[in-house]
Amino acid sequence: MKLAEKIGFIGGGKMAEALIKGILDVELVNADQIMVADPDLSRRDLLKKSFSVAVSADGNDIVKKSEVVILAVKPQVMGKLLDQLNKSIGKEHLLISIAAGIPISFIEGSLAGSGCRVVRVMPNTPALIQQGASALSPGSRVKDNDLEIARSIFDAIGISLVLDEVYLDAVTGLSGSGPAYVFTFIESLIDAGLKVGLSRQVAMDLVLQTISGSVNLIRESGEDPALLRAMVTSPGGTTIAGLHEFEKAGFRGIVMNAVEAATLRSRELGACLSQK
Ligand SMILES: NC(=O)c1ccc[n+]([C@@H]2O[C@H](COP(=O)([O-])OP(=O)(O)OC[C@H]3O[C@@H](n4cnc5c(N)ncnc54)[C@H](OP(=O)(O)O)[C@@H]3O)[C@@H](O)[C@H]2O)c1
Repeated sequence: MKLAEKIGFIGGGKMAEALIKGILDVELVNADQIMVADPDLSRRDLLKKSFSVAVSADGNDIVKKSEVVILAVKPQVMGKLLDQLNKSIGKEHLLISIAAGIPISFIEGSLAGSGCRVVRVMPNTPALIQQGASALSPGSRVKDNDLEIARSIFDAIGISLVLDEVYLDAVTGLSGSGPAYVFTFIESLIDAGLKVGLSRQVAMDLVLQTISGSVNLIRESGEDPALLRAMVTSPGGTTIAGLHEFEKAGFRGIVMNAVEAATLRSRELGACLSQK
């Protein structure tokens, strides 16, 4: 798939950089179809040098020249940014927001009368190495073609799926915050290796390969993780001794509580913004 549209990024930070790298790598667009607005000269220089894209300090300038506008700024500055861009955004624009916790209603409300179409996306940090998981939710005026364009952009940095916005808080709690849970589990396993006498390096090498190998085994076998777990758990063996400790501490309940707490926090933050 090749897009004919010009894509303007508002905010040229880490996520914008990952998206630009991904879409150029898969040749979704040419570099001359990408423009970036960022107030930071060093970010503009870096993006221009790395990807040969056009850059500007002026967001309105970029919006006027783009058909697809990707809002890649921190959530805290989104209200002010939408006020600034209001005069340039019209019904010709497909707006894609990746700002965590900002509801579609907030963006549509801030740009009332513009007629633009809005897609909200929740990506996650593995997007930085093109292995992200992104959930996309269409706003009230979005057409099928808009969603296809948005998906093609996020498929370039991993996998994407389309969900109703009511599920985006759950997505935030699961895959948005998910890398932090996995990093914590990995850290804990490495420390556990040290506890049983292995060096940090040996523990790190073994843990990383065990995690990535287990993920690949699930993918390649197509088996349920529960079955694969049962296959390595022999009666009276070492694995069941270890798993018994997980169960005594309520491991599964802890994981469910963590995802639920993050989901509720995301909902709370979104509700605060909706009331502003
Ligand atoms: N990083 C992730 O893994 C991740 C995951 C999920 C969602 N997100 C969402 O993605 C968005 C971007 O995150 P990020 O990690 O890329 O943040 P970031 O690295 O801080 O990038 C944001 C960039 O936007 C610039 N900016 C601020 N105000 C602007 C304006 N008015 N016009 C144009 N550019 C402006 C910032 O410049 P200054 O630094 O000079 O202010 C900064 O360079 C956030 O909303 C975040 O919630 C990120």
